[in-house]
Amino acid sequence: MKADMLGAARAAASIAPNLRVDLYSDTNSRPTPGMRKAISEAECGNEQALEDPTTNALQERVAELLGTESAVFLPSGTMCNEIAYRVWARQGDAVVMDKTGHALLFETGGPAALSGLMITTIDGPDGIFTGQHVRDVTSGGGRHAPRPKIVNIENTSNLGGGCIWPIETIKDVADTAHSMDMIAHMDGARLMNAVVESGIPASTFASNVDSVWIDFSKGLGCPIGGVLAGPANFIDEAFRIKHQFGGALRQSGMVTSACLYALDHHVERLKDDHENARTLHAGLRDIPGVTVQNDVCQTNLVFFDVGGTKLSAPAVASALIERGIRIGAQNETKMRAVTHLDVSTNDIKFTLTALRDILT
Ligand SMILES: Cc1ncc(COP(=O)(O)O)c(C=O)c1O
Repeated sequence: MKADMLGAARAAASIAPNLRVDLYSDTNSRPTPGMRKAISEAECGNEQALEDPTTNALQERVAELLGTESAVFLPSGTMCNEIAYRVWARQGDAVVMDKTGHALLFETGGPAALSGLMITTIDGPDGIFTGQHVRDVTSGGGRHAPRPKIVNIENTSNLGGGCIWPIETIKDVADTAHSMDMIAHMDGARLMNAVVESGIPASTFASNVDSVWIDFSKGLGCPIGGVLAGPANFIDEAFRIKHQFGGALRQSGMVTSACLYALDHHVERLKDDHENARTLHAGLRDIPGVTVQNDVCQTNLVFFDVGGTKLSAPAVASALIERGIRIGAQNETKMRAVTHLDVSTNDIKFTLTALRDILT
């Protein structure tokens, strides 16, 4: 997309006067009244001295959920990835991930800037790859190649369209990584979507990887935060790097109370988001000139291409904004809609009516 077009789409998005349906991102949901109440009643202490009871409780709860020895609360999912990479790898090492990986495209070069790491990419369908893919991109360089040290599994895959990694594929990739003296790390920004949709426990998804994290600011609807989990010695070191990166907090119970609330109240309801995404996906399929990226909509992300209509994606985004609907343009033809707890079934119907009107 040309910079001016992207700028125009962004400007249109930012000045929406009467935004009614925000499908731009699942990070755009607002704390619910129940969550705000939990925040206002939170017990707090100094996190850096391990004295915040709410943060300690959240860390223990997530470690149990993911079946790991320990866990640490971090301000963002980006920090979960970047700290894990820093702990596991040395300068000049390579992180292997899909070409659509968040850490490759959207973390402002963090692996290189913060830890001196290279990224080796795999072209996997729907952001999902196999152990053979890992072998294919890492063999052949010998002593001269960057040392492949981490394999990054993004579950669900964001740009892949919210697809869930099959358990046997995770095991295959993790086993391959381990056989090559590499670490398997799971970016679980939307792992709970995968859990709710598949019925597979989070600890099963996490059982073959060395480190894993979940994000609270996406489908779970919290204002900030992620929790990185793994073996105790890894988390001890992650805590040290958290401090070094300036992410060690004080009375973080003010935010981790929201995360505990979300684990109690916002997990099962992710099914509603998936249902809404499927309705949108099915409706888009029926609009002439629109192509949906994924044959099946598994979770809460719907990518679609408007190249077969007369309009560009930024033009569609602008037309939607005028009707109080926000959907992001990814490039000149591609768009992404994300369902979350502030989007209702009626909002989806309203959006589909608008899209049919604009596109046909
Ligand atoms: C797959 C994936 N990983 C990591 C992140 C980063 O999370 P955060 O926005 O909490 O830093 C995101 C955010 O969109 C994401 O989609």
